[in-house]
Amino acid sequence: MKPVVVSHRNHVSDTARSLEKYYALHAHIYDATRWAFLFGRSAILERARVAQPAPRRILEIGCGTGRNLIQLARLFPHAHLTGVDLSAAMLNVARRKTACYGPRISLQAQSYHAPLGRTGSHDLVLCSYALSMFNPGFEAAIVAARADLTCNGHFAFVDFHGSRWPWFTRWMRINHVRMDGHLLPLLRENFTPVIDHIRPAYGGVWDYGLFVGRKKD
Ligand SMILES: C[S@@+](CC[C@H](N)C(=O)[O-])C[C@H]1O[C@@H](n2cnc3c(N)ncnc32)[C@H](O)[C@@H]1O
Repeated sequence: MKPVVVSHRNHVSDTARSLEKYYALHAHIYDATRWAFLFGRSAILERARVAQPAPRRILEIGCGTGRNLIQLARLFPHAHLTGVDLSAAMLNVARRKTACYGPRISLQAQSYHAPLGRTGSHDLVLCSYALSMFNPGFEAAIVAARADLTCNGHFAFVDFHGSRWPWFTRWMRINHVRMDGHLLPLLRENFTPVIDHIRPAYGGVWDYGLFVGRKKD
């Protein structure tokens, strides 16, 4: 009998396919519902502004419906913004919402697992409630984000961190989210922390992490 070989690449594309299906349904209700549990999104943008007050180019990995891109465009009126996302349905919503910004905001439909450019050209890379869904692929995305940053660039991150309630962790897993505290240690290895906090949500039902780090040499 031939051995069954399951490659990492197949795994990544299986995950991408099921995320695409998931967001084809959720894109329509995303903005109306996520404010109630994706905490820290505005706070991390403000923190990123302190670390990187005048970025020229900004990348958001897993930009979804474009909520953060619009806030970033307002915070940094001279910056060019790129949003990358694998979900066509989420990007369709983002495209409608960001149309008034013209070419200042560009959107790319792809799975992010390799740098966008050969040389780091982004002063700020944001990953907001996306990296916890890169399973597998979070290590490759972090390495790629580092490569996409300029030498003094900053990586800003907000995402689910953990929960003491196994039922909640299982429920989130069904919703494609891994939350076992695996991301922050890896971010600390790859970036020099400027902001590094863990905050409780709903009195401790879960925790979320806020991180801003400078690219390490
Ligand atoms: C929870 S949403 C977050 C959207 C937005 N960043 C926010 O804060 O509202 C996660 C997004 O990450 C995208 N995503 C997940 N894995 C991805 C991957 N490997 N490459 C690109 N986008 C991905 C999903 O399609 C989804 O739009």
